[in-house]
Amino acid sequence: MPDSFSNVKAVFEQQSMYDAVVQADYMQHTELVATLADWARTQTVPLRIIDLGCGDAWLATHAFRDANVEMYRGVDVSDSSGERARHNTAIWPGRTEVATGNLADFLHKTPDASANVVLASYSVHHLSSEAKIALIADCRRVLVPGGTFFWIDPVRNDNESRDDYINRLTHVMQNDWTALTLDDREKACTHVRTSDFPETGRWMFDQVQRAGFQRTATLLHNDFFDGWAFTKK
Ligand SMILES: C[S@@+](CC[C@H](N)C(=O)[O-])C[C@H]1O[C@@H](n2cnc3c(N)ncnc32)[C@H](O)[C@@H]1O
Repeated sequence: MPDSFSNVKAVFEQQSMYDAVVQADYMQHTELVATLADWARTQTVPLRIIDLGCGDAWLATHAFRDANVEMYRGVDVSDSSGERARHNTAIWPGRTEVATGNLADFLHKTPDASANVVLASYSVHHLSSEAKIALIADCRRVLVPGGTFFWIDPVRNDNESRDDYINRLTHVMQNDWTALTLDDREKACTHVRTSDFPETGRWMFDQVQRAGFQRTATLLHNDFFDGWAFTKK
């Protein structure tokens, strides 16, 4: 069962570890920024963005830096990330809000059809399967018709158990994520073992389709992580 988010909060209050992961591009943030920015260039209406588990909003502020952003609402459980997100999103003065708390509660309180983008990058995999399904329904509710749900997360192969996926990922983290100190690598692996609950791609597609989305783009695909755009029908 997924842990309470107190452990997740503790890990992400300490910024330096995840900063090193992003800077070394171990989770393909460079590719994500490029594909999201390309997508944003094709949009004709101002973006009204909800960012679930925004961290310090590094991804959103790099991807949507040149976009017409009318509203940005981020949420994160980590106070220190929230502080940094408030600072980073000052590039959109008067149009931003960053909340501290549980992303599922935040989304549940978000008004219907109040956004045209929901960005969920590397955050939803911490939830249980049931909570993910409820979250997808809320994503659909808060989006306008034609709105886009970006779901980027660790993804298991079909027929791969959680344990097999976690062992495969932590093996690479332990051996190849050398931009992190040994101690941070150990902490990151412990976090993955206790707090990551990746689904298979097939399960994710089934759930979003059932909720009334269609897949419209692939943002990222590699041995561990995937990212897709789903459009509200
Ligand atoms: C791996 S980081 C991803 C940050 C950013 N979205 C990115 O793509 O770089 C996961 C973030 O989600 C936040 N998070 C995880 N579970 C959460 C929850 N239930 N509610 C709010 N934030 C959560 C963590 O604090 C962390 O900042």
